[in-house]
Amino acid sequence: MPPSSKFVGIDFSEVPVERVTPELAGLGQGFRCLRGEFVTYWRQGRIQREINARISQCWILRCDDSLAGYMTLIADKLEVDQPILIDEGVQYQTFPAIKIGLLATDRRAKGAGRRLVEWGIEYVAGEIAPTIGVRFITVDALYDADLTPPYDASGFYEKFGFRFVNPEETLPPSSPYRTMYLDIKPLIDLLDDSSFDGSDD
Ligand SMILES: CC(C)(COP(=O)(O)OP(=O)(O)OC[C@H]1O[C@@H](n2cnc3c(N)ncnc32)[C@H](O)[C@@H]1OP(=O)(O)O)[C@@H](O)C(=O)NCCC(=O)NCCS
Repeated sequence: MPPSSKFVGIDFSEVPVERVTPELAGLGQGFRCLRGEFVTYWRQGRIQREINARISQCWILRCDDSLAGYMTLIADKLEVDQPILIDEGVQYQTFPAIKIGLLATDRRAKGAGRRLVEWGIEYVAGEIAPTIGVRFITVDALYDADLTPPYDASGFYEKFGFRFVNPEETLPPSSPYRTMYLDIKPLIDLLDDSSFDGSDD
């Protein structure tokens, strides 16, 4: 099979997302990503070290022994300049969140990024939010001004409704990342049959 056809015809929306175990951490031979550093993060053990240190969990998509993509999830806090939940009577400017830490897909695995992010949103809303307060998903979207045109991952996250924490930030940004967030309350409410609105009836 020529390398370019490795993932042809695979509908990643149907592929199960699996948590990385020590056995699965050995996958990744032949993983090709648009950004080489994300291959290095996987192959040189950064992710496994983070898992071992209990500072992240990693979720993958694979086809047999071929790694199609990975995503780490970590606890985070969202900090904003304005109290964005003022309409709900919440005046805080810091909120509990889960961060998409590292996300990368094989460049031949079309639809793998969407699958991982959509799965992650549903996982956080359906499995974590019912037991631990978490309102937002955050991500530091990579922006590389050294390329022409610049590499910008933010457009990918915008497809899922993520917004910039600081929309006024000029380009190129002051750091290679721009923080974005997604409000998952609508989905949490949808998935949580026992949700209540605080009224007495
Ligand atoms: C960013 C990344 C994870 C996206 O994964 P992917 O597997 O290419 O995404 P999908 O094939 O599922 O694409 C989903 C949609 O996002 C779009 N998309 C992908 N990357 C995009 C980008 N940088 N900007 C805008 N749209 C993008 C696709 O065109 C597709 O659009 P469609 O649904 O209208 O057809 C992948 O390109 C990658 O690994 N990049 C290098 C590492 C990286 O930047 N990670 C994120 C760091 S914050």
